Amino acid sequence: MDLLSKELSIGNTVLKNRFIMAPIKTAYGVKSGEVTEHHLQFFGRRNKYLGAITPEPFYLHPSLRELPVQIGIHNDDMIPGLKRLSDVIHEHGARAIAHLNHPGRMANPKIPGNHFFSSSKQACPAGGREPEAMDQSQIDESQHLFQKAALRAEQAGYDFVELQFGHGYLIAQFLSEYINKRTDNYGGSWENRTRYGIEVLEKVKNAINIPIIVRFSADEMIPKGLKLEDMMKLAAILEEKGVNALHISSGSACESPPWYFQHMAIPKGKTWDFASGIKKSAGIPVITVGQINEKEEPEKILRNGTADAVAIGRALIADPDFAGKVLGDITEPVRPCASCLEGCLGGVKGGKGLMCVVNPEVGKDETEPSKADKPKNIAVVGGGLAGIEAAIVLQKRGHKVTLYEKDTLGGLFNLSYLTPRKQNLKKINDYFIHEAKEKLTIVYKEADANELIGKYDTVILATGSNPKTPDIQGLKEWKWAEILKEEHMPKDKKGVIVGGGFIGAEIAEALAKNGNDVTIVKKSKEIAPDMEPMSRVFLLKAFQELNITILTDSDIAKIDGNKVYLSTGSNEILIKAVDFIVYTKGMVPDNSLKDQLKGKVEVFLMGDCKEIGKAMDAIHSAYDCAIAI
Ligand SMILES: Cc1cc2nc3c(=O)[nH]c(=O)nc-3n(C[C@H](O)[C@H](O)[C@H](O)COP(=O)(O)O)c2cc1C
Ligand code: SF4
Repeated sequence: MDLLSKELSIGNTVLKNRFIMAPIKTAYGVKSGEVTEHHLQFFGRRNKYLGAITPEPFYLHPSLRELPVQIGIHNDDMIPGLKRLSDVIHEHGARAIAHLNHPGRMANPKIPGNHFFSSSKQACPAGGREPEAMDQSQIDESQHLFQKAALRAEQAGYDFVELQFGHGYLIAQFLSEYINKRTDNYGGSWENRTRYGIEVLEKVKNAINIPIIVRFSADEMIPKGLKLEDMMKLAAILEEKGVNALHISSGSACESPPWYFQHMAIPKGKTWDFASGIKKSAGIPVITVGQINEKEEPEKILRNGTADAVAIGRALIADPDFAGKVLGDITEPVRPCASCLEGCLGGVKGGKGLMCVVNPEVGKDETEPSKADKPKNIAVVGGGLAGIEAAIVLQKRGHKVTLYEKDTLGGLFNLSYLTPRKQNLKKINDYFIHEAKEKLTIVYKEADANELIGKYDTVILATGSNPKTPDIQGLKEWKWAEILKEEHMPKDKKGVIVGGGFIGAEIAEALAKNGNDVTIVKKSKEIAPDMEPMSRVFLLKAFQELNITILTDSDIAKIDGNKVYLSTGSNEILIKAVDFIVYTKGMVPDNSLKDQLKGKVEVFLMGDCKEIGKAMDAIHSAYDCAIAI
């Protein structure tokens, strides 16, 4: 890790290594915008091995928030709290970066009192409010907000100010010809469109003595959006104007969020290539970002000359020690980020605050689990992800733990990554299985109630769930998600999928991609309403391209040989020559051992065998249960 552990000078300030934590909204705040204990805990847990930390974007004015509970830098009363945060970041020598952003038309329409400004009146098609096209006094006022915020950041001990010129926010709304329709000297020519951002930069630079980083999207990944050639020109101007480093991302919050948030469905490395393009002509440090989450990647990026430093977001959420593990200071395996966005963005947007599918401690105080008052002899039955998580936490807490698995470690999650765009989830499965094999005593057999009673103080059932058994006249053979396995996957056949939740829909896509003629039969109107929203957009797009028939308000009435009779509303439809049926109408908890154990030994249920949910629910409920015993 020779290059990663090298110091980096940005302006006159030195970073102890090349790791920078990227800005990520946490929703750990309060309505007043003050820094909370939760922020201090979260960043305090990540301050050891990084060269610099960028906490979440600080809002410039209460009417310009992206989240109701974001950190504010809008008045001097915020300075003491912001200083506490920079002090925590500094504890082990990391530098603190204050990321300043004006969202423009991307201010959150759900926050009462928010104002919506932009270069022009075009609203964000993804549900934004129509913005005011800013007049000169509004332009001056907004630039003044940046300036005052930067001064406060310096007063609060931040080592750098990072100005957001990208991700489709206000400055990018001026830069982009696609959005900026002005005819005054802030619109039209490239020179005019850059004017607003350059004036912000000049005002900020005049106000502070700390170095300035500019973050921008080198490609907005929208047909008419900003492209690398534009941004190379911008990079040269910024450098000439005295910017000290460039932080290169991609995408826009409005039109191309999968790029902005680096969803697992977009190609890893493409955003690094953009950084590399900028670096070719840049004389100042270039920072790259985006799905840098494997141990070997950061060093490789630096060695290839792609960038001078790596910014990392979610890999540091999933594993606060990611950088320490990459640098070799910690030898444990990395708890992997799958770029799924389910827990982090899902938690922030859903109002629960930043969480993580694979790391149930995120969102809590993230301290080591306390030792148990009375260590017990515990059997955990079921080696799916919930069972493994529970067993590991219980063991950490000093209990003696035996894990029972009758079949394959990982349980049903072994099927989750066989659907399109989900291969990343295998990393999660592999990690949990590896941890189990390394750390736990595993008995590979079906747990027997009589054997458990008397042998253990406590039994934890993590036996998961089974697919519902269909009750359809004439149905003799059907499949569930196991059809995704190579040995079961049909080719060029005709199938009916019953149920259009995300499991049914993803199976349908996989089958259609393998040349099968697929019909989804479902009662409700919406396809996969329970799916992570960005994954759902990809799914629906794929559906448009594939020849999948969707029959809503429908159910199977009966089956006769290879004929499937459907009732759709008041009509009957017959589908002939059907080769296979996939039944995905829900899951049933597998808690058959519960009654046999009840009253004879202490029993707890967790995960799907307690309540059907997603992988995140199962892992988190396992953790909560293991902490409470
Ligand atoms: C929940 C979440 C919130 C984010 N909020 C912001 C933001 O407010 N401003 C910003 O510029 N980037 C934001 N990002 C993008 C990150 O800074 C980073 O560019 C992105 O997560 C890709 O890096 P990673 O793959 O290492 O996570 C956010 C990302 C996530 C997952
Ligand atoms: S929820 Fe998914 S994307 Fe977000 S940090 Fe955790 S593993 Fe990564």
